[in-house]
Amino acid sequence: MNDPAEFVRSAEARLRSEVPGRAIIAASGGIDSTVAAVLAERALGERARAVFVDTGLLRAGEVERVAGYFRASGLRHDVVPAADRFFAALDGVVDPEEKRRRIGTAFIRLFEEEAGKTGTDRLVQGTIAPDWIESGGGMRDTIKTHHNVGGIPGDSRLVLVEPLRDLYKDEVRAVAKELGVPAFDRQPFPGPGLAVRVNGPVTPERVRRARVANAVVEEEIERAVAAKEIPAPWQYFAVLLASPTVGVTGDNRVHGEAVSVRAVESIDAMTAAAMALPRELLRRIAERITRELAGQVVRVLYDITDKPPATIEWE
Ligand code: XMP
Repeated sequence: MNDPAEFVRSAEARLRSEVPGRAIIAASGGIDSTVAAVLAERALGERARAVFVDTGLLRAGEVERVAGYFRASGLRHDVVPAADRFFAALDGVVDPEEKRRRIGTAFIRLFEEEAGKTGTDRLVQGTIAPDWIESGGGMRDTIKTHHNVGGIPGDSRLVLVEPLRDLYKDEVRAVAKELGVPAFDRQPFPGPGLAVRVNGPVTPERVRRARVANAVVEEEIERAVAAKEIPAPWQYFAVLLASPTVGVTGDNRVHGEAVSVRAVESIDAMTAAAMALPRELLRRIAERITRELAGQVVRVLYDITDKPPATIEWE
């Protein structure tokens, strides 16, 4: 993409030709799907309906935050509460790829229902180039199945419309600027949500722990950024690990869980460098996580691996 204005013109024309009637838009609150949604609304007007799914796998305060972001972008949207069905779909699943497939399938089934209510079979998604490149297919190796690529069941009657399919993240940001979608000052958050930040089984209780730990990491890092102690990382989060570990409270040994904290710098998420966070900031994060999840999380690790060889997310 050379010229964002030209991209917007041709994307709107393509949307109008790919969507003869109505469409629903899978709107996650991330910049990719918000840009796709705004393009679809511009091209289709009232015929487009953005749907935001509350999967139960979201971060603290996410539903309200996303609603604010959509309002600022001028996007109408409906929230569909669906935590029960996502936890049911993930019951007993530990393999990260299987998690993504189950989540992808649950999303698609839900969107099929919502599309039925809207009277369409067209689903607009914010898929971007790295999503399908990393998901493999053809001659490519599968690095990771992105939920919005590999999870789509072959028997789905939905017809996908993906206006950002050829763009990389920095190009999406340029298009966002062109469209007047407010600069996204939040870090990227994966579509499968906290399910991939909970290693091993995904239960409401383990997701709650991951949610608390992620909120601590976000608050502490955002405070340090605001105080100019560190530059803003590309992404920063906590992962609840699968291996149980032993801690101590008073005279008692307790069996708890461990959390890994990660903060990386990156340009486009294709490569990343682990950040060297100040010791005091790390200490505060560990102290708060183990205090706010006392007896549940007893150990906090800091991930010092670049991408490659590690990915940004753990799973
Ligand atoms: P990795 O972990 O592959 O992540 O280095 C690169 C970027 O993609 C995000 N990510 C995902 N985003 N669905 C998404 O929408 C996914 O399944 C997924 N997995 C990873 C990750 O947070 C990082 O920004």
